[in-house]
Amino acid sequence: MVGYGASIKNRWIRRHGRADRYTFEEQEIGAGGFGKVRRGRDNSLDRCIAAKSLDPILRAFSEAEQERFRREARTLAKLSHPNIPAVYDVNFTPEKFEIIFQFIEGQNLRAIIEGNGPTQVGLARQWFQQIASALEHAHKNGVIHRDIKPENIIITPDMQTAYLVDFGIALSAEEAK
Ligand SMILES: Nc1ncnc2c1ncn2[C@@H]1O[C@H](COP(=O)(O)OP(=O)(O)OP(=O)(O)O)[C@@H](O)[C@H]1O
Ligand SMILES: [Mg+2]
Repeated sequence: MVGYGASIKNRWIRRHGRADRYTFEEQEIGAGGFGKVRRGRDNSLDRCIAAKSLDPILRAFSEAEQERFRREARTLAKLSHPNIPAVYDVNFTPEKFEIIFQFIEGQNLRAIIEGNGPTQVGLARQWFQQIASALEHAHKNGVIHRDIKPENIIITPDMQTAYLVDFGIALSAEEAK
């Protein structure tokens, strides 16, 4: 029976690809005090993703820290806006704690300021309008970001679009009550 099951699994993998839903690049694209962010691939839907994860094997996270992480995913799930990466999925198990997001190609604004120096006024205005629009959408849905800073803004390689990330300490109106 076991052999029969394994052969079905192998045939399935040959036909549909890897059994793992997500594969990740080793190199992190961001690491804060809390989690780390890696680029990866959704093998079922064949698209890039970004995964923010806590590793419970490396460090024991308190119940409050785990709840903060779950809240980040739930907060983002309330939002749908062209300048906020979508949350696609979550994986909360004893071995793994991760949020799967739309991957945004580009660099955060802190890296751009440090690499390129002052930004053209027209471009800065464009990014400011996009982030303000993202915040307006969040506020209409009862979400306050509370951590607006260059590290939490990603600019695409053509420099045309700014995305607001990191709802890690955001508050939603219901939870603030
Ligand atoms: N969806 C994404 N696509 C591409 N890069 C991302 C994405 N989300 C985050 N990043 C990159 O990873 C970095 C860290 O992400 P984020 O700010 O969410 O984590 P953090 O600061 O470690 O979080 P926390 O404050 O919750 O500890 C960002 O500055 C950005 O460069
Ligand atoms: Mg951050």
